[in-house]
Amino acid sequence: MPVREEVVIDANGVCGAARNPIDDVIASRLSCRQFSDSPVARSTIEQILRVARFAPSGANIQPWHVYVLAGAAKTEVSAALLHAYEREPGEHVSEYQYYATEFPEPYLSRRQEFGRLFYGSLGIEQSDAAARSRQTAKNFAFFGAPVGLIVTIDRRLAMGSWLDLGMFIQTMMLAAVGRGLQSCPQETLAKYHRILRPMLSIPAEQMVACGISMGHPREQARARLMPRADVEAFASFKGFEN
Ligand SMILES: Cc1cc2nc3c(=O)[nH]c(=O)nc-3n(C[C@H](O)[C@H](O)[C@H](O)COP(=O)(O)O)c2cc1C
Repeated sequence: MPVREEVVIDANGVCGAARNPIDDVIASRLSCRQFSDSPVARSTIEQILRVARFAPSGANIQPWHVYVLAGAAKTEVSAALLHAYEREPGEHVSEYQYYATEFPEPYLSRRQEFGRLFYGSLGIEQSDAAARSRQTAKNFAFFGAPVGLIVTIDRRLAMGSWLDLGMFIQTMMLAAVGRGLQSCPQETLAKYHRILRPMLSIPAEQMVACGISMGHPREQARARLMPRADVEAFASFKGFEN
């Protein structure tokens, strides 16, 4: 595929005049939290998984496993997760630590900006714990998406394999965009491994890494909300001319 140079993508992921199809797909992926109920065929998810297999992994060990839920199976899981969230507060914790206990800068400021933008876009005051909790609860309904995925990894593997898993997850989400779909990766669901394990027959050696909602975005959920830092903020160049 001919790829043009001089791609211009601003911090909101909006591509400028010179662009290529891969950049378009990457920059138009976003975390969608409002899905339409338009169904997604099993064959579409199979295509997404088939192409995502080409994600790289150290020594090609391909450490991922995915449980794909739709229809009654998804509804049943959603109900159980929601029940646990509402009735068993504090009783469910992830088997791995996703967030640092304390965020140093610049991560603290970015997280605060996320909170302002995210809850601001929903008209929720950050001090309104009940409204924030109602928003969190939507995770368990996969934000209304017709497909929910639960991604697991073998706990006997080391941290490096989590790099592989992240690449696989991103590749799935990009393959979804290529088919007009959007997604939302969800670490929130990893907390409920004790509910998910028996329902999905997840073997003991598998750890729940995250969930992913996938489907067609509602019109109002098609715009990027989250900006990105400029390249200068995270990249250092050496040895180039000019
Ligand atoms: C591994 C991972 C876990 C996430 N978990 C959640 C989650 O549980 N619930 C949620 O609403 N968003 C979740 N997100 C979405 C992030 O908030 C989102 O990626 C970030 O704000 C950047 O926005 P964007 O994906 O739209 O570019 C998660 C993202 C990643 C990569």
